[in-house]
Amino acid sequence: MNKQKKTVLISGISKGIGAGLAQRFVDLGYELIGTVRKEEHSYGLGKVFKLDLLSAESIAEVSSKLIEHASGIDLLINNAGIGSDYNSDLSLEENFELRFKTHLFGLYSFTEAVLPLINKYGKIINMSSKLSSFAEIDKVETEKLTPTKIAYITSKTSLNMYTKILAKQVAHRGIEVLSVHPGWVRTELSKTNKNAPLAIEDAVDGIVKLIQQSNPSGTFWDATSQKQLNW
Ligand SMILES: NC(=O)c1ccc[n+]([C@@H]2O[C@H](COP(=O)([O-])OP(=O)(O)OC[C@H]3O[C@@H](n4cnc5c(N)ncnc54)[C@H](OP(=O)(O)O)[C@@H]3O)[C@@H](O)[C@H]2O)c1
Repeated sequence: MNKQKKTVLISGISKGIGAGLAQRFVDLGYELIGTVRKEEHSYGLGKVFKLDLLSAESIAEVSSKLIEHASGIDLLINNAGIGSDYNSDLSLEENFELRFKTHLFGLYSFTEAVLPLINKYGKIINMSSKLSSFAEIDKVETEKLTPTKIAYITSKTSLNMYTKILAKQVAHRGIEVLSVHPGWVRTELSKTNKNAPLAIEDAVDGIVKLIQQSNPSGTFWDATSQKQLNW
């Protein structure tokens, strides 16, 4: 492994923003480690491991592989996420569980497992959503707040609290932890995302710009406006 290169670990690079970020960091000369849920397909970008955040076994397996593979990680992007479309194969409770397991418990377990690998002065980006801000929710029309939208929003609000807590826990190592809203981006996250104004490339531009600057740890940012968000 080329020790001169910075290493980035990104979850959920099979498509969407994660795929865009993976390509961009390779272009920027980073050593890429990515995760996908289904079959590993690295498209020659870097090392790709299989990870399902819903499975404790999967998290344990990938963590031990990562500890073997990587000598240090400079940047962890917790990107993998699930949208707010109702999954009709599941009960409402299971729909809630799906979002909280993915955005909070799975993300927490994965982050804790790889934390020893994060280098001093490294960065951790938790992909959140502006919708999860207490300050922004009044702007959302009440009829748009479907049960699974509520599950999505509240799971990301919980993630934001984890950002704050983690920032305190890793402050002594100089690690910067941020929650980042990528913008409303045309991906397969939810059915309505096909109408989103931002292309993946534009969202990636904003996220990378934020990452490349120094920000106060334990804060929430909008990658589109490059402005700090209120919790
Ligand atoms: N797009 C937006 O407008 C928007 C706005 C605010 C926040 N975000 C956040 O940005 C992140 C990326 O979203 P996106 O729009 O790029 O969505 P996307 O195109 O649906 O991609 C989501 C990625 O997460 C992976 N994933 C889902 N569940 C997973 C699990 N249990 N374990 C591991 N990986 C899993 C998916 O893998 P598979 O291919 O296997 O499904 C895929 O690689 C998400 O956290 C989302 O909440 C997006």
